[in-house]
Amino acid sequence: MIGGGYVGLVSGTCFAEFGTDVAIVETNPDRLTALREGRIPIYEPGLDRLVAENVEAGRLTFGDDMAAAVKGADAVFVAVGTPSRRGDGQADTSYVYAAVEQIARAADAYTVIVTKSTVPVGTGREIARIVRETRPDLEFDIASNPEFLREGNAIQDFMRPDRVVIGTDQYKPGGTERAQTILRKLYRPLYLLETPIVFTGLETAELIKYSANSFLAMKITFINEISDLCEKVGANVNDVARSIGLDGRIGKKFLHPSPGFGGSCFPKDTRALTAIGRNAGSPVRLIETTVAVNDQRMKDMGERIIAFANGDVHGLTIGVLGLTFKPETDDMREAASIPVLDMLDRAGAHIRAFDPAGMTTARPVLPQSVTYCTDALDAARDADILVVLTEWNEFRSLAPEKLAREMKGRKIVDLRNIWDPKTIKEAGFEYISLGRPDAVRSH
Ligand code: UDX
Repeated sequence: MIGGGYVGLVSGTCFAEFGTDVAIVETNPDRLTALREGRIPIYEPGLDRLVAENVEAGRLTFGDDMAAAVKGADAVFVAVGTPSRRGDGQADTSYVYAAVEQIARAADAYTVIVTKSTVPVGTGREIARIVRETRPDLEFDIASNPEFLREGNAIQDFMRPDRVVIGTDQYKPGGTERAQTILRKLYRPLYLLETPIVFTGLETAELIKYSANSFLAMKITFINEISDLCEKVGANVNDVARSIGLDGRIGKKFLHPSPGFGGSCFPKDTRALTAIGRNAGSPVRLIETTVAVNDQRMKDMGERIIAFANGDVHGLTIGVLGLTFKPETDDMREAASIPVLDMLDRAGAHIRAFDPAGMTTARPVLPQSVTYCTDALDAARDADILVVLTEWNEFRSLAPEKLAREMKGRKIVDLRNIWDPKTIKEAGFEYISLGRPDAVRSH
């Protein structure tokens, strides 16, 4: 497994748990030391225990010697980063290609080179070209095996997936049965669960990942726009989402209104799909719109807070609950809190923030003036307005009276609909949330 980041570490550990011998190659020395000492550099519930057990059992090792890991391996997974390239939104595959060249040099017998990182359509074929050029003598296959891991739920998502997608080269003369057999073996425990294992061509597997994430991002964006509309016409988005979700064709998941989707996947993958579409001369306009609407939405949320403060937050204290892009993670990548707090900071507000896991990761990406608090009530202290940005469970049970005691003002902006408007209003608060008539401003 090349890359001990989020995807590589979770996938490698879970393959080991399935009974396979796994060597994770990590070239960042700090990260490698941490892993070797049993410290898990990411926040993923249950992962530390699973790593420890598999290291103990001798199935999982960490190192920086690519050649040693690749020699004798039946399959080599590439799980290095593919960040968004500045400017054109395309995924940057330079780390992938660099790793592949090294793998090709080190391989001493037939191997399947598998991309786990989300890579643009066509990357698999380019990898094949690089390997052929680097090692004309090497017998190999290329496969694409995209991950569908949610942060905070990644182990469950790996062990009990809805499906596994394996793409191999549909144009290879003689076929790629050998590669399919190896990959099928790796996922053997899933056969007991009757998990669908979908075998496709290389390009298809690459496109499936972008399509799945873009569809989900579009679904969220849809309900966010319906939520805005609900506010205008006096409808309730919770009831709309629930009722449309009961239609099996639509499904109830990913219909929660929010300040906009964030994280390491949706923003990157939606941008990449629009770039792939444009480059292929077949623009994916629904996703182009999804990207634009989501970007705009985060700005609108900042403005909504300012409007609620009668148009001016200068000198006001704003308490913020939740900073990460979603609960149960410390990940701040593309979190809605970044543009929202930027705007409030520029407008002259004092920000007091608390997040149960993201305080360290938030510091470098949020305005310097933000005050980091010890808990939710501390963030509410002396606040004129309290804003909920991430729906951590511990915020749901906060007693409104306790908040009232800490706060100076009586205004709450709940951008995740975690509270019941009636209860909050009865406690004496002015309250706005998303798409619920009770929560709509009177003017
Ligand atoms: C996602 C995909 O779910 C996963 O399959 C993929 O492989 C990686 O990207 P992740 O980014 O960890 O996983 O989180 P997810 O739970 O999907 O949430 C993504 C974003 O969408 C978050 O910002 C979340 O707050 C937002 N969201 C999600 C909503 O705004 N509304 C919803 O109904 C669901």
